[in-house]
Amino acid sequence: MRVCIVFDSKRGATRQIVQWMVEALEEMEGIEVVARGPEGTEPFDYDLLVIGSPIYFERPMKSMSEFVAAQASSMHYQRVAVFILGWAKCLYQSAEKHIEKSYFGPLVKGFSNELVSTHMFRGWIRKKDREQENESKDWILRVARMV
Ligand SMILES: Cc1cc2nc3c(=O)[nH]c(=O)nc-3n(C[C@H](O)[C@H](O)[C@H](O)COP(=O)(O)O)c2cc1C
Repeated sequence: MRVCIVFDSKRGATRQIVQWMVEALEEMEGIEVVARGPEGTEPFDYDLLVIGSPIYFERPMKSMSEFVAAQASSMHYQRVAVFILGWAKCLYQSAEKHIEKSYFGPLVKGFSNELVSTHMFRGWIRKKDREQENESKDWILRVARMV
């Protein structure tokens, strides 16, 4: 399998992540991997294209968005994977942990074997809310199918 990782980095973290990815892939048999910046123009012919960017000021790096916008049509690949880096992950992770422990915790305690799914809705329904209507229907149907 041929893998191409296209990435950009300002301060080196994305470059480090890519280096680790390349090390891991090189240990797998049958994988050929190249990593490069978004400025290259060689034609693409890969099984897997991996796109990586840090987030700065709420956006991926311009070089990477431009790479995707400008070059996507001339690339040949079977599959695409995308990764990003950013401190927002810590905020979401700590929120997720808090929700799991303090919000769901008292309600799921003691159901460890029986519990099939938990889900949090945004709530605050003041007028017709199609999004939460669909979300609630989807969720209860998924739960019903699991049982
Ligand atoms: C000036 C500045 C702005 C940033 N803005 C965001 C942001 O809006 N959202 C986010 O999740 N991370 C943000 N980050 C965190 C970076 O995405 C993170 O440090 C990343 O590892 C940088 O990757 P790099 O070292 O490859 O450039 C910001 C970092 C800096 C220094």
